[in-house]
Amino acid sequence: MGRIPEETIQEIRNRVDIVELVSSYLPLKRSGGNHQGLCPFHQEKTPSFNVNEPRQIFHCFGCGVGGNVFSFLMRMEGLSFPEAVKRLGERVGIEVEETPDSPAEVRRREAYEQLLKINDTACAFYHNTLLEAPAGAPARRYLRQRGYEGETVRAFRLGFAPERWEALAEHLKAKGFSASDVRNAGLVREGQQGRGDYDLFRNRLLFPISDLQERVVAFGGRVLDDSLPKYINSPETPVYQKSRTLYGLCQARDAMRHSREVLVVEGYFDLLALSRAGFGNVVATCGTALTADHARILKRYVDKVLLVFDEDAAGRQASFRAMDALLPEGLATRMVSLPAGADPDSLIQDQGADSFREAVAAAKPVLEVFMEDQLARNDDSVEGRARAAEEVLGRLRRLPSDLEKDLYIKQLAGRTGLAEDLLRDRRRAVVSSRAPRVQVQQSRRSGPLSPEGRLQRYLLRLMLADAGVRQRVKEAGTSVLFLDEEYRGAGDHLLKLQRPDGCLPENLVDTTQDETLQALLASLLLEEDQAWADDAGQIFDDCRRAVARGQLKMRLKELDSLEESARCNGDDEALHRCLRERTEINLKIKKSP
Ligand code: GTP
Ligand code: MN
Repeated sequence: MGRIPEETIQEIRNRVDIVELVSSYLPLKRSGGNHQGLCPFHQEKTPSFNVNEPRQIFHCFGCGVGGNVFSFLMRMEGLSFPEAVKRLGERVGIEVEETPDSPAEVRRREAYEQLLKINDTACAFYHNTLLEAPAGAPARRYLRQRGYEGETVRAFRLGFAPERWEALAEHLKAKGFSASDVRNAGLVREGQQGRGDYDLFRNRLLFPISDLQERVVAFGGRVLDDSLPKYINSPETPVYQKSRTLYGLCQARDAMRHSREVLVVEGYFDLLALSRAGFGNVVATCGTALTADHARILKRYVDKVLLVFDEDAAGRQASFRAMDALLPEGLATRMVSLPAGADPDSLIQDQGADSFREAVAAAKPVLEVFMEDQLARNDDSVEGRARAAEEVLGRLRRLPSDLEKDLYIKQLAGRTGLAEDLLRDRRRAVVSSRAPRVQVQQSRRSGPLSPEGRLQRYLLRLMLADAGVRQRVKEAGTSVLFLDEEYRGAGDHLLKLQRPDGCLPENLVDTTQDETLQALLASLLLEEDQAWADDAGQIFDDCRRAVARGQLKMRLKELDSLEESARCNGDDEALHRCLRERTEINLKIKKSP
């Protein structure tokens, strides 16, 4: 696939109608200038999903997603941008011709396609062996013993690698794949000392691992008895990166979208067991840690993650590591606790699906568990409790919501007997020593906007409407006007887009591929027509003053912790400097209208 020419993208964009496209997925009703419906990306009862025909954009005021026809389809179908362009091209009868790639790019792409083809061919081979070959009998027996039938086997395309050294190698050779391509796919290894290449998976039950487009990229394989290693996995290849792959993601996608929750389990069999018991929104990590990449992928579909890891020390550590990846994404994270020694598969097998459901209902916020864990690890002395508190405070900074931080501080104070105010101060110290600039991060999902957030959005809307405002913002500099990185980025983007004649391009949402920025622009454009009649210059000045005041207040917060550390270090000079600055700032704030 080469590069798609900009003109083609433009042409497709002009021909596709967003109302028509969205209507093919969900019913829309006209409401004022917009069309409205129930958001397909989160669960809701009253419609907050808006489609604007003149602007050809969508935005959900409930969950914050938004964009143009391409981003809608990308999100809806899990496609990449070029794939979405092609799909829409087909819809309106525009053929997408790509500019030819460089020879190196062509080779890379062909190699990639070849890896997918080999994995797919292997999957079919293993699947058929399990379903019907005489050699598959031991695996069929094994599955039956564990209570799994053909339905699960088909739904997950499970397979069996027969107990032979060259079963797959021969099959792929007969299908015409070259030995070196097959080795690159990692399923066959080069024979030593003149012997032929041999299969990686032998006498193992196989779980094909797919990417978001349902293409097999790797396998996990389990022995049928107690021999070791119990599981082996395909090596990483250009089509398979462990840190970005989750087992079962493809099958879980719709269920995740609807419930806005996902269960994360450790094992392949746990996933099968839950799926069979009617839990569709499950993915498995397959022996690797949950990464920030995983978290970002899950965030496209859910707001809440339920971790179902082993109830031992290793499982807890895995949960806490996962917490470090999930919390910064604003994902509410809970830990499901199962009876000791049980995993979801064995629990459901032994005690039924309801017992698992109860465990899920009793899941605790991961930070709460972390707090208990830290307290249990340290002794009950003041120092011990302080150490535990420091650990917890260190994690609190990962929470994007101040409200939540506050609740945990209250809880921490209750549990440690340390004063709330002290903990609050310590948290600031932790924050400012690790992150030099305090950020006021406003997560779009976390309820009403702060006054600063409202002002910054207001200023952005003024920028959209008024070239004069853009000019003034340019002169003042966005860093003086926007407190928040997200809004500042949007301001910079608008200034960059401004053409020499001072106008902004027509389709603003189409000017970026950044999901967050697209959503922000779409929401601003849909909020139009409120109070434009006011004097723009006046509003601009208000915004500017309020943001400046916000920055001063932020500096005051920084001073809190600077003063504290100056006090601790006995650095009188630094303390004096801080106090002088504080007085000056307080004066400025008082003077500003
Ligand atoms: P069953 O015993 O069949 O129920 O599997 P399980 O998933 O319960 O196994 P376990 O709890 O031991 O391991 C959980 C997950 O860790 C597995 O599903 C694998 O993804 C991974 N895993 C376990 N053992 C190994 C191993 O020996 N090698 C590798 N690479 N991964 C393993
Ligand atoms: Mn198990």
